[in-house]
Amino acid sequence: MGRKSTKGKEKRLARKEEQLRLSASKTVVDKANSLKDPLEPFVAFQKYNNNGLQCDLYIKKVSELDTSTTDWAFGLTKKNMQHKYENCSWGWSDGKKREELLDDTAWYLVALSHDGHPIGFSHFRFDIDEGIEVLYCYELQLENVIHRRGLGKFMMQILELIAFTNNMRKVVLTVLKNNSHSNFFKAINYRLDESSPMDDEDDVFPYEILSKINKKLALTNPLPVHDKPHHGHSHHQHQCCPGHH
Ligand SMILES: CC(C)(COP(=O)(O)OP(=O)(O)OC[C@H]1O[C@@H](n2cnc3c(N)ncnc32)[C@H](O)[C@@H]1OP(=O)(O)O)[C@@H](O)C(=O)NCCC(=O)NCCS
Repeated sequence: MGRKSTKGKEKRLARKEEQLRLSASKTVVDKANSLKDPLEPFVAFQKYNNNGLQCDLYIKKVSELDTSTTDWAFGLTKKNMQHKYENCSWGWSDGKKREELLDDTAWYLVALSHDGHPIGFSHFRFDIDEGIEVLYCYELQLENVIHRRGLGKFMMQILELIAFTNNMRKVVLTVLKNNSHSNFFKAINYRLDESSPMDDEDDVFPYEILSKINKKLALTNPLPVHDKPHHGHSHHQHQCCPGHH
């Protein structure tokens, strides 16, 4: 009897702690989402000039983008990704991709060429994932003609900068295993996230989840061990280059 009630109390306490932690995570995410312009303090990151490529960069919420920009972002994503989605179990749907790109919570980092045309973008969100506050990179897409000139790396550095200065615990993304460009993320030190599903005899997953950890926060304010998210096959609603599985 005595033992049971102690266990019950421990469970209640653990539940309470978890609720408090989730509510603290939500406060951090809400604060980041209430920013007007996360790039504003970082003037040096508002321009890129390297390898013969010059561009200006800005960050806006999807609601502040004009239709020509969101139409371009959809078109570029479709051009780069459609066949890769179709070659795995995700499949491609114009409607679902548009819906995702236009979700109210979407933020955009956009690179503009010197003549004012968009040439690359990232769709990202500040969100709770697996119970912790993260910047989730849904999409990083550059026009083909500007690949391998360092802009992709620069844009990921911007995402890391704004994620970590706004106290997100990780930058997370999902990549398709059939996309050779996924190696880019490994080259810039993204590693398999603990939530990435493992293939077994029953399930083979077409994607993997990569992340970069906010080391400073992990050191100064580590997650309690029992609060760490579960490993394994959770169903991710967020997917960089997401599909519909
Ligand atoms: C993936 C992508 C964003 C990379 O951007 P990028 O500007 O071309 O990459 P960078 O020049 O910044 O590359 C930095 C480093 O990453 C590595 N890298 C870049 N692209 C790579 C690729 N396709 N395969 C392997 N490594 C790659 C290289 O080490 C590179 O350094 P190096 O050029 O000095 O060797 C870009 O190629 C792209 O838009 N691809 C199509 C869309 C896509 O698949 N996006 C990813 C899934 S959401």
